[in-house]
Amino acid sequence: LSGRTKPGPLAGRRVLVTSGPTHEPIDPVRYLANRSSGRQGHAIAAAAAAAGATVTLISGPVAIPDPPGAKVVRVGTAREMLEAVEAALPTDVAVFCAAVGDWRPAEARGAKIKKDGTAPAPLALVENPDILATIAGRSADRPRLVVGFAAETDRVIENAREKIARKGCDLLVANDVSHEGGVMGGARNSVHLLGRDGALESWPELDKDEVGRRLVERFAAML
Ligand code: CTP
Ligand code: CA
Repeated sequence: LSGRTKPGPLAGRRVLVTSGPTHEPIDPVRYLANRSSGRQGHAIAAAAAAAGATVTLISGPVAIPDPPGAKVVRVGTAREMLEAVEAALPTDVAVFCAAVGDWRPAEARGAKIKKDGTAPAPLALVENPDILATIAGRSADRPRLVVGFAAETDRVIENAREKIARKGCDLLVANDVSHEGGVMGGARNSVHLLGRDGALESWPELDKDEVGRRLVERFAAML
């Protein structure tokens, strides 16, 4: 806030991070969501702030504390998250760690839907905007380094290769979330880093905080 820059490998850099799930309302008491604790995204935001960056963390609803040193913007839906991300630009680095709902109910009802003894009405869904692809594809204010995540249950590397091409990001961090009670909500993560040039690097299982610190070192080296 003073305009002074903290020392560190990301001194003077601006970083935005998305984290947590989105909640897509069905009615005032119900929503659709993805499983996500926000731990990995929050750890990246904390590590970037510790490395000297000015950090904006755009977080869906989570039950963990705010990371020290970051400005936190809280959102509910995918569309609110996209709007908050666009408002945080320009940045040098953008990291899309949020588990964004791919679909939302076509209509969020204003009043609670009641049981009436008949079969429930089917839930019509529409696709949400792809926040990562939207930002990676911008011509104005595209962050120099756009980092995507991929949570996969099978064919992790094949899906990651397809995803980095489709999303247009510079680096993709893929993790295998197939282990029940494992990565999602847990404290540890094992990731594969895929570069735009096809280079693949697999890291051992690490604390999410340590994954955050190592990723931040990598971002600094790539800028
Ligand atoms: N993402 C996003 N906006 C969306 C969906 C995903 O910004 N509407 C971002 C995630 O934050 C992540 C990356 O895109 O960085 C990949 O998300 P993932 O769910 O693995 O990929 P999808 O493209 O949604 O494909 P699918 O869920 O079908 O595997
Ligand atoms: Ca998805």
